[in-house]
Amino acid sequence: MGISQDFARDGFVKLTIGSREQGEAAQALLWEQIGLSPDRPEGWREPVVWAQDLTGQGPFGELLRSPVLAEGLDAVCGKGGWQPRFAAGNIPIRFPRVPPADDRGWHLDANVPLADGSGWGVTARSHTLLVLMLFSEVGERDAPTRIRVGSQRDSVRALGDEVHDFIRAGALVEEASRDRPVALATGSPGDAYLVHPLTVHAAQEHLGERPRFMAQMPFMLAGPLDPAADTALARALA
Ligand SMILES: [Fe+2]
Repeated sequence: MGISQDFARDGFVKLTIGSREQGEAAQALLWEQIGLSPDRPEGWREPVVWAQDLTGQGPFGELLRSPVLAEGLDAVCGKGGWQPRFAAGNIPIRFPRVPPADDRGWHLDANVPLADGSGWGVTARSHTLLVLMLFSEVGERDAPTRIRVGSQRDSVRALGDEVHDFIRAGALVEEASRDRPVALATGSPGDAYLVHPLTVHAAQEHLGERPRFMAQMPFMLAGPLDPAADTALARALA
């Protein structure tokens, strides 16, 4: 199966967009930024530490400009259906061996700017696509993001025509998609997941040994998601 067929069926697809070296170079920059060390676990005191890439420096820019990523986005959104990003944005780092954070509920990311400019909401007519980018080895115990396979079809029905706030949308789609099988976003540095904006997902507790480094970034679509369009993004809802 190709990228667009897999994406339309499951609501996500995994790609290797860069080398292990590029992913690990990004991880090294993030360790520097947060002032902690992979060799000194005694310094890991918080379950989640937020870092960021605001400039697309070095490996971040290289991965964001990956031709494989661009091809994948074309396959999912249609050529010209998405806007490039120049920085990876906010990057949560999840640490093992500390009590977990209370941020592990099933949800959709906010995907539409509110008309009154007061923030972002959640709509079936999403303005964004979610990309997860791995900068560390993520096995099943290393807090891989949980993904409800095919749940974008439940979300589109549950959300209807309204714009919801993040919490309300989470409750609606959590309930609507509870019978879907769960996939884990495992992989290696240099891997990425393209995730449908209506695919229900959740963080989870870190039960492994290696801190998990993963960016979770929205790519702006050229226009709001149109369920009637001839794209994998639209076909995923049928
Ligand atoms: Fe999310």
